[in-house]
Amino acid sequence: MPPTTPDRSADWWRQAVVYQVYPRSFRDLDGDGLGDIAGVTERLPYLQRLGVDAVWLSPFYPSALADGGYDVDDYRDVDPRLGTLGQFDELVAEAHRRGIKVIVDIVPNHTSDRHAWFQEALASPPGSPARDRYVFRDGSGPDGSRPPSDWMSHFGGPAWTQVPDGQWYLHLFAREQPDLNWANQEVREDFLHTLRFWSDRGVDGFRVDVAHALAKDLSEPLRNYGGTHPDALTELPLDGSHPLFDRDEVHEIFREWRKVLDSYDPPRSAVAEAWVTTSRRVLYARPDELGQAFNFEFLVSPWSAAQFRVEIDGALSAAAAAGASATWVLSNHDVVRHRSRYALPAGTDLNAWLLSGGTAPEPDDEAGLRRARAATLLMLALPGSAYVYQGEELGLPEVADLAPEVLQDPIWARTGQVEKGRDGCRVPLPWTRTGASFGFGGEHPWLPQPAGFGELSAEAQDGVAGSTLELYRAALRLRRELGGDESLQWVDAGPPALTHLLHLRRSTGWESVTNLADADVALPAGEVVLASGPLGEGTLPPDTTVWLRRTSD
Ligand code: GLC
Repeated sequence: MPPTTPDRSADWWRQAVVYQVYPRSFRDLDGDGLGDIAGVTERLPYLQRLGVDAVWLSPFYPSALADGGYDVDDYRDVDPRLGTLGQFDELVAEAHRRGIKVIVDIVPNHTSDRHAWFQEALASPPGSPARDRYVFRDGSGPDGSRPPSDWMSHFGGPAWTQVPDGQWYLHLFAREQPDLNWANQEVREDFLHTLRFWSDRGVDGFRVDVAHALAKDLSEPLRNYGGTHPDALTELPLDGSHPLFDRDEVHEIFREWRKVLDSYDPPRSAVAEAWVTTSRRVLYARPDELGQAFNFEFLVSPWSAAQFRVEIDGALSAAAAAGASATWVLSNHDVVRHRSRYALPAGTDLNAWLLSGGTAPEPDDEAGLRRARAATLLMLALPGSAYVYQGEELGLPEVADLAPEVLQDPIWARTGQVEKGRDGCRVPLPWTRTGASFGFGGEHPWLPQPAGFGELSAEAQDGVAGSTLELYRAALRLRRELGGDESLQWVDAGPPALTHLLHLRRSTGWESVTNLADADVALPAGEVVLASGPLGEGTLPPDTTVWLRRTSD
């Protein structure tokens, strides 16, 4: 494929298709069981052929992997097991040569406990400047032997761990992930330095981890909140009054970041991971802040036309009001893959299902794949950016039967083996039909792959008409060709609550129709340019999306 001229426009990201690479599971070129940077570079031709605009790399920084790399030892280096800064530069140069942008993950809420700052804090006395970069407090109770507050870790257990001199430090995630104190000026400046470090190396954008937690109300006495986490999508207060999440002061931080990002040409893009309700989420995405924020309501929506429509309309109007562009996600490294979610009855407790090894309830794999493909075409028809997680283009299911002894997600141990965690969506990718690790590399991938992965490999699907890989390739090519601005028009068959169709039209006139009913519906007029599954004689079967070009109006 010939080199492509990189898109230098300032707003390339507004309707981009971004492919998420989880580096440790993508391609292991040196065969040590962990994917690496050179492996990503080697597969850029595959990504170019797939038709993505950008790759987002989950963390590849030095890390003990206490949380899969989201425990960062050094924000301005590459984990030696994954490569070198030189190899990273080669990856960026080669991606740009192929017209692909590079987004890196930045983890500002916490460092790892091996970070030089945390080591210094441990070696320094209470009240020292080194401790002030983190959140150290004396314990509660008469002898300080109880945690300073009832705050819980997202991964289970208390969010406080005691150090030998008796103080406690805060960690909203694993104990190996001490939270930073964002009221500390040195912390703020250091992250500006990190943004410049990667921007200077040619990185095009940033994905901001746990963006909603940086600003905290740490005034004394710390406010207890009842020992549970609110469900961030539905229960967080809408006035920014929670002590830990989604406080108004957080926006000052991102306005500072935006100034740095805008000092580059083109300006660097950013997307917030903020698990908050739509109306508050778009605040992170304002043009003078990050520009985008992940919309997870679409991801958690049940398979229902009415509900999808509510989520789509809500996300589009909120994004437009904030001057942001909308985002769409179906899978990522933190959730059960969408092919498997859609294979299960509505309302299934996904953790219980994972604990059953993926057998109770029994997934309807065929329906799951059919719906996953239909949902993908729906997502790719929407204005805004689509974030595609590695392996969804192969139709990979969740690997739900990983044995307890191979699990690595800290959630498993920290919850006392009550929650199985996220390893099942992180299993290394299959590239070839056969071979020790189906072409991932090496003999012993860091998580075992199931036998069925070979038949889902890129090799097995390449050039095969109707395969999921070919569907994604065609969809990404057509999405680019068919175009459209950031508006969307519904072509209504009736009141939204009564219809089982999602029929939408883009500004350039093409349409997407998804049938979420149990029965066939008449295929609307137009030239079929792509369909997620076989069509009937003039009909659109259930769980199918079709893209149409209007021949006349
Ligand atoms: C984000 C990441 C997740 C990680 C957590 C803590 O939610 O997506 O993988 O465990 O932050 O950094």
